[in-house]
Amino acid sequence: MPDSTDPSAAPASQHPERRREPLEGYDDHADAVRLHASLIGDDPTALFQEMRREHGPVVPVLLDGMPVWYVIGYRELHHVTSQPQLFGRDPRRWNLQDHLPPDWPARPYVTWQPSVMYSEGAEHQRRIGAISDALDSVDRTELALICEQIADRAIDEISGDGQTDLISQYADRIPAQVITRLFGLAETDLPELVEDVNIVLGGGEEAPSAITRILEKVSRLIADKRALPGHDLTSHMLAHHARITDEEIVQDLIMTMISSHDNCSNWIGSTLRLMLMDDHFSMSLQGGRSSVGEALNDVLWKDPPTPNMPSRWAVQDCELAGRRIRRGDMLVLGVAAANADPQVQPAAHAGSGANRAHLAFGHGEYGCPFPAPELGGIIAKTAVEVLLDRLPDVYLTVKPDALRWRPSLWVRSLEALPVRFSPTVPTGRGPSNIWNASR
Ligand code: HEM
Repeated sequence: MPDSTDPSAAPASQHPERRREPLEGYDDHADAVRLHASLIGDDPTALFQEMRREHGPVVPVLLDGMPVWYVIGYRELHHVTSQPQLFGRDPRRWNLQDHLPPDWPARPYVTWQPSVMYSEGAEHQRRIGAISDALDSVDRTELALICEQIADRAIDEISGDGQTDLISQYADRIPAQVITRLFGLAETDLPELVEDVNIVLGGGEEAPSAITRILEKVSRLIADKRALPGHDLTSHMLAHHARITDEEIVQDLIMTMISSHDNCSNWIGSTLRLMLMDDHFSMSLQGGRSSVGEALNDVLWKDPPTPNMPSRWAVQDCELAGRRIRRGDMLVLGVAAANADPQVQPAAHAGSGANRAHLAFGHGEYGCPFPAPELGGIIAKTAVEVLLDRLPDVYLTVKPDALRWRPSLWVRSLEALPVRFSPTVPTGRGPSNIWNASR
């Protein structure tokens, strides 16, 4: 999604910049931290520590110039996400909507659309219920099998070269193909859809026409599935007793496909990075699959795929960690910062082990819905395991500190993960239609 990069920004380890003049009506923001993508940088640990020390768990920030509250305390973030009656997610609640510059970088996130992502209360329950029920119809064993085949095919395509970029050629491709199958999209629609999704996620001038193309494809998908239902998520949603309208389904399918694709890709990419660069994991990398689950969990603590969410607005005046929050104030949920809160991570990011109390899937009524985290986990785990099985001697071709994160507040995504390995013989398992054939 669009992000700003302020060329004058200080590196994460330096003192956060300050806005000089107070904003009218926003006295608490006189000393606000200026928050933008390049302030987060490659390692935001020092920044989070400094913000916590100077401002506490709820930080007044200027998000690309707009005053908002940055929730970086674990308990506070848990509280906000547990209280949907106090903190809504309809951006029309924002008391500064009318003051928003047209080119404000995070504008796409705070522009209301008829999507489940912006719905609240009973309306939200009706729509997220249909999504959850559809997702729950997915057979977990079949999902693992199809992921394995897609991952094998991706490795077949790169295996002869002995080198590749694991982000563009692996981590980004597998979830896209799995999700396309899950939703019953035609294989021929896949390449353009993935490209358009990436254009939308990257923001920029091409995004509106990419959205139009995605809308056309998804509308066509719905028409096809109405005419000839199959055993796919789209057909499940269309048949759901909540009677979701076509307009709602278009919006919710796009949101679900994009959200799952992006989160799964980045989860896989960051886990591969960790396993390739961390001594603790690289030993296991050679030894096999035993530490994949631990590495996946570690990433959800340290580099959650969605590190920040510009997604809550106060329903009424209230207090949060001693801050006076006014009705309609916007809150950015600092997932990565809250995960790093010393109150829950006393050993400052020592191995997370079996502790699953991270906030990477959000929390509460508007968190990542059941059983999406489980399905995402199957996709990510299978992708990593197949890579270990097929390319056991894979190694990084650059030093770990040369790896770069894309500058973004909202997405934790690597630019590239260049590796080498011994060329292998393709499995020849090839593309498969087991998803449909087994039904
Ligand atoms: C099969 C894979 C996945 C699917 C189908 C999926 C689906 C969804 C959907 C439908 C929502 C909107 C929830 C709502 O409006 O109430 C959502 C939200 C979210 N998902 Fe997922 N997701 C997947 C994987 C993931 C993964 C792997 C992560 C991160 C590791 C993730 C993190 C989130 C977060 C942080 C939110 C926002 C929660 C909030 O606003 O509080 N998701 N997801």
